[in-house]
Amino acid sequence: MRLSLVALNALWGSSAVLTSPIQQRDYHEPTSKGFRMQHGFETVLVQPFGYDGFRVRAWPYRPPSGQEIGFIYDPPLEGPENGDAHGMSFDTAFNGNRSEELRNGNIVVRTSGWGGNPGGYRLAFYRMETNGSETLLTNEYAPLKSTNPRYYSWTGPGSEFGAEFSFSTTPDEQIYGTGTQQDHLVNKKGQTIDLINFNTHIPTPVFMSNKGYGFIWNMASEGRMEFGPLRNRFTAASATVVDYVIFSSAPSDYDTLQQRLSALTGRAPTPPDWSLGYIQSKLRYENQTEVELLAQHFHESRIPVSMIVIDYQSWAQQGDWALDPRLWPDVSEMAQQVKKLTNAEMMASLWPSVADNSVNYLDMISQGFLSATRTGPGTTDSWNGSYIRNYDSTNPAARRFLWDTLKRNYYDNGIKNFWIDQADGGSLGEGYENNGQSAYIQSIPFDLPDVLYAAGTQRSVGKLYPWAHQQAIEEGLRNVTSTDVGSACEHLSLSRSGYIGSQRFCSMIWSGDTTAVWETLSAQVASGLSAAATGWGWWTMDAGGFQADPTVWWSANIDTPEYRQLYLRWLQWATFLPFMRTHGSRECYFQDAYTCANEPWSYGEQNTPIIVSYIHLRYQLGAYLRTVFGQLHKTGRMIMRPLYMDFERSDPRVGQWTRMNTNVTTQQYMFGPRLLVSPVTLPNVTEWPVYLPRTADNATQPWTYWWTNQTYAGGQTVTVPAPVEHIPLFHLGKRADILNGNVFT
Ligand SMILES: *[C@@H]1O[C@H](CO)[C@@H](O)[C@H](O)[C@H]1NC(C)=O
Ligand SMILES: *[C@@H]1O[C@H](CO)[C@@H](O)[C@H](O)[C@H]1NC(C)=O
Ligand SMILES: *[C@@H]1O[C@H](CO)[C@@H](O)[C@H](O)[C@H]1NC(C)=O
Ligand SMILES: *[C@@H]1O[C@H](CO)[C@@H](O)[C@H](O)[C@H]1NC(C)=O
Ligand SMILES: *[C@@H]1O[C@H](CO)[C@@H](O)[C@H](O)[C@H]1NC(C)=O
Ligand SMILES: *[C@@H]1O[C@H](CO)[C@@H](O)[C@H](O)[C@H]1NC(C)=O
Ligand SMILES: *[C@@H]1O[C@H](CO)[C@@H](O)[C@H](O)[C@H]1NC(C)=O
Ligand SMILES: *[C@@H]1O[C@H](CO)[C@@H](O)[C@H](O)[C@H]1NC(C)=O
Ligand SMILES: *[C@@H]1O[C@H](CO)[C@@H](O)[C@H](O)[C@H]1NC(C)=O
Repeated sequence: MRLSLVALNALWGSSAVLTSPIQQRDYHEPTSKGFRMQHGFETVLVQPFGYDGFRVRAWPYRPPSGQEIGFIYDPPLEGPENGDAHGMSFDTAFNGNRSEELRNGNIVVRTSGWGGNPGGYRLAFYRMETNGSETLLTNEYAPLKSTNPRYYSWTGPGSEFGAEFSFSTTPDEQIYGTGTQQDHLVNKKGQTIDLINFNTHIPTPVFMSNKGYGFIWNMASEGRMEFGPLRNRFTAASATVVDYVIFSSAPSDYDTLQQRLSALTGRAPTPPDWSLGYIQSKLRYENQTEVELLAQHFHESRIPVSMIVIDYQSWAQQGDWALDPRLWPDVSEMAQQVKKLTNAEMMASLWPSVADNSVNYLDMISQGFLSATRTGPGTTDSWNGSYIRNYDSTNPAARRFLWDTLKRNYYDNGIKNFWIDQADGGSLGEGYENNGQSAYIQSIPFDLPDVLYAAGTQRSVGKLYPWAHQQAIEEGLRNVTSTDVGSACEHLSLSRSGYIGSQRFCSMIWSGDTTAVWETLSAQVASGLSAAATGWGWWTMDAGGFQADPTVWWSANIDTPEYRQLYLRWLQWATFLPFMRTHGSRECYFQDAYTCANEPWSYGEQNTPIIVSYIHLRYQLGAYLRTVFGQLHKTGRMIMRPLYMDFERSDPRVGQWTRMNTNVTTQQYMFGPRLLVSPVTLPNVTEWPVYLPRTADNATQPWTYWWTNQTYAGGQTVTVPAPVEHIPLFHLGKRADILNGNVFT
């Protein structure tokens, strides 16, 4: 799927001025269309790809068709040749017995062997510096007399193989991205990350290096990423071809790396204006009356709200993809009421699971629309007493079935946004916990479900599942609004998972089912910063945390001062995310609905005005938000910006501290080009230390504290007053420019 130029150039609002894909001046055009190296039974195809990049494919024996599942555009959205796709083309073939070299812009690939041997099977990637010298970015890791850096194994009866590819690194390299985990790390150096999806873990093999290059392991297979001191290794459990892309920039030029990454994997479209407001959700609004009363309450208290969300179990059976008419007798009347009272849109949750007693089960199983297991049609999971099979998102006809059902039951009745929960693939995404059906097997020690899809097995294509699920909603919404992929979104989805290039969809990714404790609040910051480095701009989370931590007595209990304080801190931080959304399962001592409340007025009289003030602030930032989303759309420039993105060059401490993952660099970030946010992540705080980086322009007092207008020099830690009503927030430049969205001049 390729964005059309029309889509790329679509004007959005008045603040975003979009241009044609950026052309490079004085660009060093590629010296060839690529080379194919025959190395014994193995073939390696290297092509110049996009600006300053190479795509590498490798396979043993049987050549790939070129139609394998992947997540990059061919050709990329921007690049030296805006012409034909590269396909499997090359113009040089050799057998690894000489040193072959290829240049594209500032990146060079060269083959080499051991100890001065002029021939060689091993690839090395260099950046050409402006003074003519070369810098090694990485080469295939092959110490003398060790395994080949491109290593294959055959564990099954068929021709699919496992692959382990190793690349050199140095102990001081810094690795940013890799999707999201819950590990407090912005620099992933030293980590080992399984490429297996879980609720709150969306491992994704995309990273940016502080050496000035980016890397995409373009594989749908499950596997592993390892970032050791001397070796980075990527493993695919089951594949028919190995495919990766490497691209370079000047060191510390992360905006260029994001531009390259998004040209390869997808540019975020622009979200609808309304979605930039406040999104109201809880587990869960149980019926039509409750939702209408909620809208009435927002109306009467004059609190703005941009979307109201209906969570799971609103259906009669899993896989009906319809609201249960016993509880939701007139969906379109409800959507109209909500619109009339609050002007808000609505979103409803869907699960991918289809229970045996769903109205859609027979139809879907007979058409082959449900995932199976390798040993038969078997169930892939069970939930609350029903066996379930997940719909097969990798099957285009199943995607269409899903969409047609959603359209009929929701979209046509005014609920036009979709929450694709439990979207992780395989099982219901909580394969570690047996879905609570045994008190004793809480973390499953045996092999994860070996699910079968139209596109292959969970091991070989499992990483595609959530992406294709996002694609189902995207295609449906695009079809029904007659808009192209990449053009402005009218509606949205919200997904618990994603993969390489998920940013191309009208789809937010949230950080999953978190616990309502301080430690988890703090871990979300690094998770969001890693999402950004992976190329996902549309990130959000459950303000307040999703669920109670059973070991903390007050956790998620809205009637305790302890949780109220945590909630205020979490909600105020949500103001400075791409999307501001509250959600969660709450506990309470007093309740007037079936489930405990999670509204702006649910946290005590004293706290309501504070919560409401942040909702108002969010709307005041509308112009700023539109501008930063416009820039993300145009060039891939990230909205949530880890400090290294803006200050690694101007402030050497930023790079050093990022290397060590000190909490300055895992807890603070820029929100767009002008706001520095440092959410309070500890209880009972009245003041808060914030490190203010030295800025590139060397202005003497560049930083202004939002709440006092006191100005500060960069390059120092300052302790600022942070009563519970104030999130530590600094700005660069004039506040008026921020409020007008006048920030990219
Ligand atoms: C490399 O192999 C090819 C094909 O066998 C042969 O023609 C060529 O002379 C060899 N080149 C070198 C440098 O050994
Ligand atoms: C050329 O530039 C690179 C990168 O800036 C630098 O590391 C290197 O020392 C320079 N070499 C010379 C000979 O100036
Ligand atoms: C499980 O299903 C039953 C009805 O079959 C329902 O009453 C109950 O609320 C469900 N519980 C959960 C936790 O889903
Ligand atoms: C969208 O429309 C295209 C073209 O008619 C069709 O092939 C595709 O299945 C549709 N997708 C969905 C999810 O409805
Ligand atoms: C709808 O939910 C409200 C609040 O939880 C409850 O009071 C009411 O009885 C429910 N109505 C129906 C028809 O279930
Ligand atoms: C920052 O790190 C220090 C040392 O590890 C720790 O004591 C402190 O609580 C952390 N601060 C925050 C806000 O997490
Ligand atoms: C926060 O303050 C409250 C009230 O003074 C106190 O009960 C509580 O123990 C404090 N919490 C922590 C973690 O210090
Ligand atoms: C900023 O100040 C530093 C240290 O005084 C100096 O090395 C650097 O050249 C200055 N940069 C600019 C852009 O003026
Ligand atoms: C800070 O300055 C802004 C204008 O830039 C003004 O609106 C605001 O009231 C000032 N705040 C304080 C505490 O003086």
